[in-house]
Amino acid sequence: MKILLKLLAAAVILGLFSVPVYAGVKIDGVIIDPGEGATSAATVYYQGSPPFSVYRSLDGTQWTTCAAGSSENYYTDNDLDNYYNYYFKISDSTGSYAITAAYPPNNNVHGSFRLNSSLCAACHVTHSASGGYLLVQPTGVALCTTCHDGTQSKYDVRNGKVRLEDTYADTSGGPFGPLASSGQPVEIVVYEAYSSLSTEPVSILPTSIHNLGTFISGAPGGISDRGRGLGCIDCHDPHGNTSNFRNLKTVIEVTYDVSVNIDFQAYARTDPDLTGGYGEDIYYNSGSIYFCSACHSDYAQAAGSGAIGATTTQIPGLAISAQSTNKFMHAVNTPLIFRGEYYSSSLPLETGTGVNVVVCLTCHQAHGTFKTGENKITGSTALLRMDRQGVCEECHKK
Ligand code: HEC
Ligand code: HEC
Ligand code: HEC
Ligand code: HEC
Ligand code: HEC
Ligand code: HEC
Repeated sequence: MKILLKLLAAAVILGLFSVPVYAGVKIDGVIIDPGEGATSAATVYYQGSPPFSVYRSLDGTQWTTCAAGSSENYYTDNDLDNYYNYYFKISDSTGSYAITAAYPPNNNVHGSFRLNSSLCAACHVTHSASGGYLLVQPTGVALCTTCHDGTQSKYDVRNGKVRLEDTYADTSGGPFGPLASSGQPVEIVVYEAYSSLSTEPVSILPTSIHNLGTFISGAPGGISDRGRGLGCIDCHDPHGNTSNFRNLKTVIEVTYDVSVNIDFQAYARTDPDLTGGYGEDIYYNSGSIYFCSACHSDYAQAAGSGAIGATTTQIPGLAISAQSTNKFMHAVNTPLIFRGEYYSSSLPLETGTGVNVVVCLTCHQAHGTFKTGENKITGSTALLRMDRQGVCEECHKK
């Protein structure tokens, strides 16, 4: 094998291959040129083995062909409606493909750095930084919420809103609330170093959130030993990545020696009709459970766990924590069938295997919820998508 590789390397150095060999299509980024009216232009830049085909989609499932047999390394689309999400898929002669998203009229600051390196300055400054890693704000959360308060991004994570053409609608992620260290309900704790400095108004008070600043080792049903406060960048990669939905991290470090690889595939279809109750319908494809269970591994239990109890080794192979030993749990990654009865549900399901299955995000939101009805035992609304027990009725209809 080694010899083969050496021969191959020698062949490349000697120029025996005239056409450069790419591992596959690589997208360098997207540049948006905001128009005067309600539309913008987007240019996608890529590399690979020509000829290329370019496809476009609003939801990651239905693709229309924009170009075929093209030898160019870019494609310009002049007519994108502002405040709609677009996905571009580029495939090359080897059959390999890559997908990227465009958010007209905004340029996504989390990537496309090869095309526009000035984007670094949105977050870093060289000699007068307020925070570690030369950040322009004292902390990560403060940095993220200078834009994600709705001022420099269409996503306002504190109110849990996304901007549509001329309105705002709820996000699938849900609201974080003011992210202030004081003045929040008692269930919501945000440590000072994880506060937002935004002065934009917040009208939504969530009833539970992923409390920022809480030690990650305190995640219920988890085995993490990370004594670091939970922040945006523990779930999202600030520099973006080309592989996961919402720039979710590709690797989550659980303990000093255990890391979990994340391959979370989904698409966000802009939906001004609010069909699913949100401004964007999320098409969860695969991998979302592994993301949540990196920190909450005990809860990734397979079919039957409500009847026979939690298994001692959790998906993806981590040991169960003491608090969950001998407990019974609601199964995930299971189709909507119980004792021969097929359920229907308006809650979001994951569809990647061709069978719709229950995942954590079927019942929970990722950031927070404003729904009501605390659990008497846990004292929390647990980031649920509906008022207390509403989610249960959505499937079991007792
Ligand atoms: C959206 C904000 C944002 C943008 C844009 C951004 N960064 Fe960062 N960067 C961060 C944050 C936040 C951290 C801290 C990460 C951490 O604590 O793990 C960071 C950390 C870093 C680090 C140190 C840790 C690491 O990941 O290697 C380097 C180097 C870096 N950034 C370089 C760059 C360069 C170069 C650019 C432009 C090409 C850039 N960043 C653009 C937010 C950003
Ligand atoms: C300089 C402004 C700015 C900062 C700072 C910033 N963002 Fe963004 N972010 C954007 C823009 C612009 C988009 C593209 C979507 C839009 O608003 O149109 C975006 C998109 C996103 C998305 C959705 C990406 C996708 O592919 O669907 C996530 C998640 C995100 N940002 C998280 C963060 C996190 C976490 C931080 C802090 C490390 C951060 N952002 C800091 C401007 C910013
Ligand atoms: C515990 C992990 C976690 C933390 C912490 C977190 N996010 Fe997210 N975020 C997610 C997930 C998962 C999604 C996708 C949710 C969905 O589509 O159902 C998401 C979605 C988003 C989106 C897309 C809009 C939406 O809400 O659906 C933005 C923007 C974003 N996050 C920014 C942030 C910022 C800024 C912070 C810090 C203030 C943050 N996130 C903290 C996991 C997290
Ligand atoms: C990086 C680690 C991390 C990831 C990834 C993560 N969580 Fe958490 N989660 C935590 C921590 C830490 C807490 C405890 C802090 C708190 O209670 O707010 C927590 C608490 C919770 C709670 C309890 C909140 C309450 O009010 O009782 C729920 C529910 C939850 N997470 C669901 C999820 C879901 C669903 C996902 C996947 C979208 C997820 N978590 C991904 C770290 C994580
Ligand atoms: C069928 C709906 C449903 C699914 C699926 C689900 N949860 Fe929950 N979860 C709940 C409810 C409801 C609560 C609140 C406690 C209660 O009422 O029993 C909760 C509570 C939690 C809590 C807070 C601690 C606790 O036990 O009360 C965490 C953390 C959590 N869930 C994480 C997850 C993760 C991670 C997944 C996926 C592996 C998941 N949940 C799947 C409904 C669900
Ligand atoms: C998205 C649909 C869905 C939702 C929402 C849902 N369930 Fe289930 N439930 C199922 C399915 C499917 C099964 C069968 C799981 C299996 O194969 O083990 C199940 C199994 C159960 C069981 C039987 C466990 C056993 O095997 O003995 C109980 C009890 C239960 N659910 C209660 C709840 C409660 C309480 C809630 C609300 C917190 C809830 N479910 C929400 C789909 C759902």
